[in-house]
Amino acid sequence: MPTTQEILERGKNVLIGNYARVPLDMVCGEGTSLWDADGKQYLDLFAGFGGAILGHCHPALVAAAGEQAKKLWHVGNTFHTEPQIEFAELLNRHAFCGKAFFCHSGAEANEAACKLARLRGSQNGGKKWKILSLLHSFHGRTLAMIAATGNRTYRAGFGPEVPGFIHVPAGDFEALEQAVDDETAGILMEPIQGEGGVNLYPSGYPLAVRELCDRRGLTLIFDEVWTGGGRTGKWFAHQHFCNDSGGGVVEPDLMTLGKAVGGGLPVGVMYAKPDIANLLVPGLHGCTLGGNPICMAVARTIFEVIEREKLVAHAAAMGELAFTRLRNDAKIADKIVEVRGRGLMLGIELKSPPEKFLDKAFSFGLIANLTAKKVIRLAPPINIRREDWLSGLDRVAELIASL
Ligand SMILES: Cc1ncc(COP(=O)(O)O)c(C=O)c1O
Repeated sequence: MPTTQEILERGKNVLIGNYARVPLDMVCGEGTSLWDADGKQYLDLFAGFGGAILGHCHPALVAAAGEQAKKLWHVGNTFHTEPQIEFAELLNRHAFCGKAFFCHSGAEANEAACKLARLRGSQNGGKKWKILSLLHSFHGRTLAMIAATGNRTYRAGFGPEVPGFIHVPAGDFEALEQAVDDETAGILMEPIQGEGGVNLYPSGYPLAVRELCDRRGLTLIFDEVWTGGGRTGKWFAHQHFCNDSGGGVVEPDLMTLGKAVGGGLPVGVMYAKPDIANLLVPGLHGCTLGGNPICMAVARTIFEVIEREKLVAHAAAMGELAFTRLRNDAKIADKIVEVRGRGLMLGIELKSPPEKFLDKAFSFGLIANLTAKKVIRLAPPINIRREDWLSGLDRVAELIASL
């Protein structure tokens, strides 16, 4: 077997250096554990940027991929394939009534949603094409999505921006309302900002945004790429947004999914209310490998496991446990500003940016993440066992105390 050093050297020669890779070679995983090439074990509290929602090599997902691989891999969207329909039916069961378009990534799903919002804005001679998005948001790395993302560092060096994306401060309803004009087609927002620092909105903001969209005929897009699939203690994070006047959940017109719904395989979804979805007629959009049977069989099985094992409620309970554990730890109280988030999407804001955070986390046998310079992000697989989570939180507290 090659040594870690050899792998790093070979990688340097043949892989583009666009990722700040750490000097570790991960070779296998099981559940919430990962092992590197030197045999060191880690507790994975970040699940590969949220993708491995059921952990590593989950037996039901391995079986689903294997069985489907023996039946049918790929035929293209000229044909109907059952796994796509079964997964879309599960989306209907757990989200709002809608129709699905499948692709490979969150960015692609957002592209599809913005195209559809613009298409809707062009109906009946309309000229609505602008999309409002929020500062500190993140929507992906394609040319249009770096324009949509409310952080200019992702755009620097890439020439003229794709026009039509306007950014307003997150959570400031007045600013959002003022930014709407006769050319506005829609509003794109994450229900909880992930990359931006696990930021929640003031209560009442999502409902006000929904009502604004209804008043002005705008398409509301919730980017649930980080939050969808049970992570936040609801199947989809917008289900936390309730209409206090008894009107139920604040729903978007379009919802985008990625990460968790593939469990680590490349699955993106643009999910739309039927009347809007129906505008996308043959020829207007597509994706060659989107909805391929193996990915769909895995996505369907992820939802079945989440249902069967009641993992949405588990994520909510584990989140509560984390709040209690971390907010009441005297030895880290002077290091942190706050612990926030929902379910198993948690942010621990530090008072100051730590140095060499990842190296220190590895030395505690932990995989975690740092975003927005000083927010530690925890997003373990949502089937993490209570005892592993408690031991992980103890180690996180020790790690913070050591920073
Ligand atoms: C909210 C959100 N939207 C979109 C994306 C882009 O997803 P992908 O990397 O799958 O294109 C991300 C990625 O982190 C994300 O956090």
